Amino acid sequence: METKFEQGRLTVILPEEINPKNHTAIEKELFALEHLDAAGELVLDAENMNYISTLGLRMILKFRKSHGGIPVNIINTSEDIYNIFETTGFTAFFNVKKKLRFVDTSGFELIGSGMYGSVYRINDEQVLKVFYGIQSEEEIEPVINTIRCAFVHELPTTIPFEIVRTEKGIGTVLELLDSETLSRVIEKDPQNLDMYIDKMLALSKTLARTAFKEGELRSRKEMLKAKLGRSAPFLSAEELGTIETYIDAVPDRATAVHGDFHAKNLMISNGKLMLIDMDEFSTGHPLWDVANLYCIYQGMVHLDKKIAYGMFDLPSNSLYDDFYFKIVGCTLPQAEVIWDKFFNGYFADSSREDKEKILKLVAFYGNIKFITFLVDVCATLKDQPEKLAEKVKYIRYFLTESEKENLHVLLKYLDLWK
Ligand SMILES: Nc1ncnc2c1ncn2[C@@H]1O[C@H](COP(=O)(O)OP(=O)(O)OP(=O)(O)O)[C@@H](O)[C@H]1O
Ligand SMILES: [Mg+2]
Repeated sequence: METKFEQGRLTVILPEEINPKNHTAIEKELFALEHLDAAGELVLDAENMNYISTLGLRMILKFRKSHGGIPVNIINTSEDIYNIFETTGFTAFFNVKKKLRFVDTSGFELIGSGMYGSVYRINDEQVLKVFYGIQSEEEIEPVINTIRCAFVHELPTTIPFEIVRTEKGIGTVLELLDSETLSRVIEKDPQNLDMYIDKMLALSKTLARTAFKEGELRSRKEMLKAKLGRSAPFLSAEELGTIETYIDAVPDRATAVHGDFHAKNLMISNGKLMLIDMDEFSTGHPLWDVANLYCIYQGMVHLDKKIAYGMFDLPSNSLYDDFYFKIVGCTLPQAEVIWDKFFNGYFADSSREDKEKILKLVAFYGNIKFITFLVDVCATLKDQPEKLAEKVKYIRYFLTESEKENLHVLLKYLDLWK
């Protein structure tokens, strides 16, 4: 049997059949696998398998018993093989995963594409979001579980269906919302901006009130720190330490954070706002979402243009206003108004002095969003050292900016958060 040993994981490609004739030979081979003792995890890849006899099932059980400590995962099963594992109760002991359905995106209408992926309409009820650069199911599983979790907590979001494989990478099939993004609706109906901002405020307060049980969702801090871990090769230990200190300084909360809350990640259907783009959905202090809005509607608006062009890879002859509109879905002057109305609405019960203080804290974490965004970008540039070095330069720029503030003082303003 073909095997692969990577990062402590031993993968074995199972044969087409495990039947009464071949099972003894296969068992021998399985128990004598090279690297077995060093493996922390065993993966049985059933991609080619179309038959397994009861003797084969017993062999897997025997293996599990004799190698009690190693988790055994069975992947890429066909529908039929999965049914055998399920009806025989194997799915209770083993992590069994079906082979992902393959979907060819070429015939579908592209309805949106952003920094992280493309969204296609696949029929009248479903969309498919394909993530750039993601090739493994494991990376996408937390995203679909997260949407499911938000959905069962009755938060307004899409119903998640399944993870599929496409020619462009892994994707998720989600409910199609027959609606428009809030940014588009505001663009078409600017005179009702106040009403739309009120809806955004109500939704952000709902998120801040919706609590999750421990372990149900990843926390914002955990998520950001995991991403930071991937940047270890290109930032110094001191820089990583500083960013981690900033992340850790935000108090924990069990309540929901969207992670990229802004009008282009909200859709409006029959007057009701729905959350989309849930990749960063997590638990944490509402500061994360308010700071994200600051980053989008203030930070990006006032960004030094030289920094902005380099950071977002904009051609020198392009207009920043056009780029901003494409990414955020509103003009630069509109962004100012949206921010002003949202922030003053969010802290409507606070005094002017308190609001000024809170704004400083929010602005600080708005800049940290640029850092975490760039950290994400860097993780995709491992094979492009020149580009990577340039992005690292911008991370350092935002770090230098952040060091001009006294975080200790800013954090005291958290007490003013209502
Ligand atoms: N469930 C859905 N139903 C209908 N349209 C959707 C749905 N999800 C996404 N879209 C459309 O696709 C666009 C991009 O979706 P999404 O924000 O999830 O992707 P993204 O790659 O993160 O994009 P961006 O970087 O612009 O945020 C949305 O602005 C919206 O127009
Ligand atoms: Mg989006």
